[in-house]
Amino acid sequence: MSKNKSVSTMMLMLIAVLLFGMAACAPVSDSECNSLRAELDTANAELNRLRAEIATVKPASLEELLRQRRSIRNYTDAPLMQEEVMKLLWAGQGITVAWGGRTAPSAGALYPLELYVAVGNVENLAPGVYRYDPRQNKLSLLKEGDVRKSLALASLGQSSVADAAIDIVIAAVYKRTTAKYGSRGERYVHIEVGHAAQNICLQATALDLGVVTIGAFEDAAVAKIIGMSPDEVPLYVISVGRMK
Ligand SMILES: Cc1cc2nc3c(=O)[nH]c(=O)nc-3n(C[C@H](O)[C@H](O)[C@H](O)COP(=O)(O)O)c2cc1C
Repeated sequence: MSKNKSVSTMMLMLIAVLLFGMAACAPVSDSECNSLRAELDTANAELNRLRAEIATVKPASLEELLRQRRSIRNYTDAPLMQEEVMKLLWAGQGITVAWGGRTAPSAGALYPLELYVAVGNVENLAPGVYRYDPRQNKLSLLKEGDVRKSLALASLGQSSVADAAIDIVIAAVYKRTTAKYGSRGERYVHIEVGHAAQNICLQATALDLGVVTIGAFEDAAVAKIIGMSPDEVPLYVISVGRMK
């Protein structure tokens, strides 16, 4: 049996366990119900792991990813894995060559973008606001606590922002680019945020995750919630979660 088929068979078995568990919950005692719930949680965690494995076993072609990418605004409560979060951020601004070139092009290689992630529901990663460091491909914690609801309020109440497992916020430091290119540099920064965002969307699609890019938000409120420095301006919020 191929690896894909065996993974699919395991997924079907897990789904059967889930359904059996749900059906069995009604007439049984509290303790039996609790133990079935624990089994369900374990099965769910395994399902998530297998989903991620499937995405790596059979990588989709670029054409398939472009065709599949859609704005998805409804998510399940299942957590993302830390690995998946890192893959999304790497796709946005990861360094791919020794001189510091990144996954997305940048006018004059000046790299004006900064990536933040508001973590709400990620395995082994505490809720909080983190900054992505492309040089080390690592996260550093800026602020503890789940800010997704505040971010959703700042995004004109959009529920996808609160319901997503994470919200990636892309900020720009304009002067890194305008110092060289003058006011035309502003245009370059806006073009660059599109490059980075599309990379993140395609990575999310490759990982079988739901993703939506959000442009409707109050800049000052988002900057404050994230804890940005005064020279940073938030340009995009990208919500990501497991698809329903
Ligand atoms: C610059 C920009 C801003 C957007 N802002 C929002 C937004 O605030 N809320 C939202 O739900 N979708 C937002 N979207 C997603 C669009 O609604 C979506 O791309 C469009 O409906 C086409 O659907 P598709 O992405 O599935 O192809 C935005 C997209 C872009 C490119």
